[in-house]
Order: sequence, then structure tokens, then C-alpha cells
Amino acid sequence: MCGIIGILGKHEVSPQILDGLKRLEYRGYDSAGIATINSGKLDLRRAVGKLINLSDIMVHAPLPGRSGIGHTRWATHGGPSVANAHPHRAGRVAVVHNGIIENFRALRAELTSAGAEFGSETDTETIVQLASQYLEQGMTPVEAARSTLKRLEGAFAVAFLFEGEEDLIICARRGSPLCIGHGAGEMYLGSDAMALAEMTDRITYLEEGDWAVLSRGGALIFDAEDKQTNRPMTRINVENTRVDKSGHKHFMAKEMAEQPGVLQAAMGYYSGREHDSLELPQGLDFARADRLIMVACGTAFYACQVAKYWFEKYAGLPVELDIASEFRYREPVLGPANLALFVSQSGETADTLAALRHVKPHVAQVISVVNVPTSSIARESDIALPIHAGPEIGVASTKAFTAQLQVLAILALRAGLQRGTLSPKAFAERLFELRAVPGFVAQALDREEEIKRLSEVLSQARDVLFLGRGMMYPLALEGALKLKDISYIHAEAYAAGELKHGPIALIDKDLPVIVFAPHDGLFEKTVSNMQEVMARQGKVLLISDAKGLAEAGEVPFRLAMPTVPDFIAPIVYAVPAQLIAYHTALHRGTDVDQPRNLAKSVTVE
Ligand code: M6R
Repeated sequence: MCGIIGILGKHEVSPQILDGLKRLEYRGYDSAGIATINSGKLDLRRAVGKLINLSDIMVHAPLPGRSGIGHTRWATHGGPSVANAHPHRAGRVAVVHNGIIENFRALRAELTSAGAEFGSETDTETIVQLASQYLEQGMTPVEAARSTLKRLEGAFAVAFLFEGEEDLIICARRGSPLCIGHGAGEMYLGSDAMALAEMTDRITYLEEGDWAVLSRGGALIFDAEDKQTNRPMTRINVENTRVDKSGHKHFMAKEMAEQPGVLQAAMGYYSGREHDSLELPQGLDFARADRLIMVACGTAFYACQVAKYWFEKYAGLPVELDIASEFRYREPVLGPANLALFVSQSGETADTLAALRHVKPHVAQVISVVNVPTSSIARESDIALPIHAGPEIGVASTKAFTAQLQVLAILALRAGLQRGTLSPKAFAERLFELRAVPGFVAQALDREEEIKRLSEVLSQARDVLFLGRGMMYPLALEGALKLKDISYIHAEAYAAGELKHGPIALIDKDLPVIVFAPHDGLFEKTVSNMQEVMARQGKVLLISDAKGLAEAGEVPFRLAMPTVPDFIAPIVYAVPAQLIAYHTALHRGTDVDQPRNLAKSVTVE
């Protein structure tokens, strides 16, 4: 988490840094800060909370200078406070940092006994104190930065700015993403290319272990062994990085509304020339796989959980699912005929990336489904399949979830065809259903006014329970996660049949229970579980189609969904899960796009 930006400019850099930080605020918003060099002097401004607080401070106390670094923080070591905000400064050095310095306690003890005085609780301050100590010993800034980097353990991205050095920023990438932007007589640095989009479309991505010396004339890049190296410069599509709310009240609202278009685009991207064919990367080989290992976090994990049903049903491919943060620590058994599939919106989630690196030497192929095609996960996969959802800024993942599902469904169909478990006819029928998803999602979005009314009841609740069976179970999990994410209401999800094994004890007249139950093969069973809830006065909201609602009998609250084929139901039913969370949060007045304690991209373990 945390966002880093750096600029060696021709003009005043503070406004540009603020603009870049605005684009990085999705990575954390506990505090923000900027340091610049002006007439050789190093100075900085920092503020707790969102970027707007830093902007306010800088109106009254501007920060001149043509070289600078900036940071937006998601707190790890030390709570949100000005003292813990970045940049940190010691002597003639300022540092911004993303990630965790794992050996910071030992370093801090060593530096303290050498006389360093720490002003924060952060691990970051050890970096700046070390660099300052090396400068005091007579090292040049480049030597001091390099020596400092050698002492650090952990996963991080870091940038150094030095007093008296108007044309120098040193940066390093070890485990956390960092890219360099090339301008005309200017150089930039950012946690992602999106932060630099208003300044340049020419980007160099640093590789793992790289560090770089930036001046206005260019960048000298060194690899982990300190050998000077070349990394390619790529042109990014700046259009794809434009971020605005397009008239919506929140990014989340915009991103939910975009779903029909996004799903249409994703479908179009993977469609072949023939209407019943798919165009997927060469080399994608499910035929010889004996097992599919799927790993992800949060919402992306629930997308995998849905996809497990598809891969097993349509491709007869055994699937093993893992939460990324658990995966490599349980010593999973891996084999040469295994395929590993990683799903991530950002493509930078630290645990998912670490899991990918863990399996890569042991499996046949590493595939990823990502939104950011230039991300670390995409670049380190054998085959990366973008979901083409465009930037997702709202912390609550919405359009990325449905687009992940769409791409995973495409993959499951391809796997079925390759493995001979789906006949060409059945394949064509499922593909036809998948093509109808954007239209059904648009119909589901049309239920917004009704959901808004229902959410008023939910917003009064202290706890909410979500239930579902089959593919509706991961949907229930996703609904509960969304509600917690942005409304701060405690929510849990259960497989409906599991309720009577414990959680039914929670049911009383004050507990809203949301039941996802399209009229599918499991409908009767889910409805029986729903009756068990209603018999105990649970306040049920049943989300189903016309047939389901007609057969369910009397239910306190109901929401009618379009009638959709079972295969695509999870994609369509994601919409009410999202809208319920959104409107409940609005009723409660929470910060929908930037909920407390969260960050969009989780780049620490
Ligand atoms: O970028 P990723 O898809 O790897 O992120 C994984 C989770 O952090 C993410 O899905 C998170 O659970 C959602 N933002 C919640 O809405």
C-alpha cells in the first residue's frame, strides 16, 4: 500500500505532485506529505488524513521547488499522525517508502546506540536515518542510498531526495511496484503509471531488485547485483488511465454503472471471428492439466470460488482454492501437471504475488486474470489475461469482480472444450448465454431504486447475514464483504445448509437475512433454509427471479431479478450485492469510495 511519486521538473513541482498523489490516493489515505528541494534547501509538508488536508496546508504554507517527492500513506508501523507521515527526514535526506522493512527493529536499535534520534514509530525512519548516517561518514548520495538499500530486509519501494541536490532522486524497487516516467527534460517516478498519466505516456517499469539514479537527463538503472542495466521504455495508453466520476456521486457508482459496457468489451476482446468461438492466447493448455490451483484475496478470491464450480462442472478439472495469504505457508503439494491461476484486480497484491512466485518453479503454467496488464502479477505470469475493466478507483471492487467472473467463465468453457468434457454444441450454448450477460446486468442495475428503499431497513441493522447455496454461496460471501467494506455493518455469509450447524442461534427479529436464490436446482433447498430463518422471526430479504418469488410464498422483503441461465447467474446476482452495500453505506453516511482503514491495493503481507 502507500503511493509514491517523484518529479525532477522544469517548473514548480508541488502542484504536480499533489495531482499525482490524488491518483495514488486509492493506495492509502491515512496521511500525505511532500518534500522538495528549493535553492538547495530541503523542506517538507505533511498532514494527517486525506490529501485535501495537505492541499489546505500548502495553500497557507506553499512548498516551492522544482524537485520533489510525495507520499500517500496506509499505516503499518505507527498510527496515522504527522510524525509518522512521510516523507521522513534525517539531516540532509528525505525518504518516501511503500512496504515493510522487516529488520527495522534491529536497525533502529543499532542507529539509536550510534546516537540517532527517532521522531516517529515507523519502520521507514530507519531508512532515512541510515542514509543520513552514511552521508555524515562522507559518502556521496548515490553511495549512501546504495549502502542503505543493502541493509534493508523486506518488500518495499523507496525514493530518496537529498539536500543540495536539485537534479537527483534515487529510487529502488524490491517487492513493491515502481515505475519511471520520461518527459522532455523532466523525469518522474510513481508507484504506478496512472499517477504519471497527466505528465507522460513513456514509462519504464523497474524490475525486482532494481534501483535507479534519476536526473533530468534520464535514468541510470542498476539491477540487484548493482550492474547497470537497460529496462525497456513502453508507451501506455493514457486514455485508459483517465479517472473521473463522469457525473456520478462516487467512483463506486460510476464503476457499477459501467458494468454492462465493461462486460461487453471483455467478451468482445476474447471473442473469435466466428460467433461461437473464442480467441485466447496460444499455449493455454488445460487438456493435460491434472489440477487447477486458484489463488487470490478478497473479492478476487470469491470470483475464484465461483469459478471452481465452472471448472469442475464444465471441464471436469479438479480445482484447489486458496486464500493467498494462507497458501505458501501451508506447504501445498505442487506437481508438474498442475496449472496455477491467480486473480487480482490490481495485479500488485503482495500475498497473491508471493504465492505466484512460490508456485512458478513447480507447476506447468502460471496464468493470471488481472485488470492492470502492466502489473507485477501480469508480467510474472506465463499467460496474463486482462479483464479490460478500466481503472477501478472505488476501494470496493465492483466492475472488476464481474469482469473477473466473465473472463473466468470464458476460461472454464475453453477448458471444457480442450478436455472434451463440453461438446461443441454445449460450448456454443454456454457461450451464447455468456454473451447475454451485459444485457442482464443492465436489467439488474435497473433495480436500483427498489434496492435503495430496501437498504434503508438494512442501514439500521447491527449485523446482517447473507445466505446462498452452490454458486450463490460465494455471492453471499461477496455481499457480506461489500457491506462490511463500505457501510461498516458487521456481516457474515453462510452456505445456507450450514446455518443449522451453529449460526442459526444468531437469528432473531432484529437480524436481516439476505438470501440469494435464483430458481435453479438448489432453489427448494435454499428456500427450506430460509423458512427455518423465518420460523425464528429472522427478517428475510429474498433475491430471486419471478418463478422463485412466486414459489417462495410470503417473505418479509423481496427483490425481483431477471430470469437468467444458471451458468451466468453469479455474474448477474453480483449487482444487487453491490447496490445493497452502496445504498446502505449512503444511508449511513460513510465514505463510500475511501472507507476507513482500507486501501485499494494491498501491497504488504
Ligand atoms: O487487487 P486485488 O484484486 O488483488 O485485491 C484483492 C482484495 O484486496 C480486493 O478484492 C478487496 O477485497 C476488495 N477491494 C474489496 O471490495
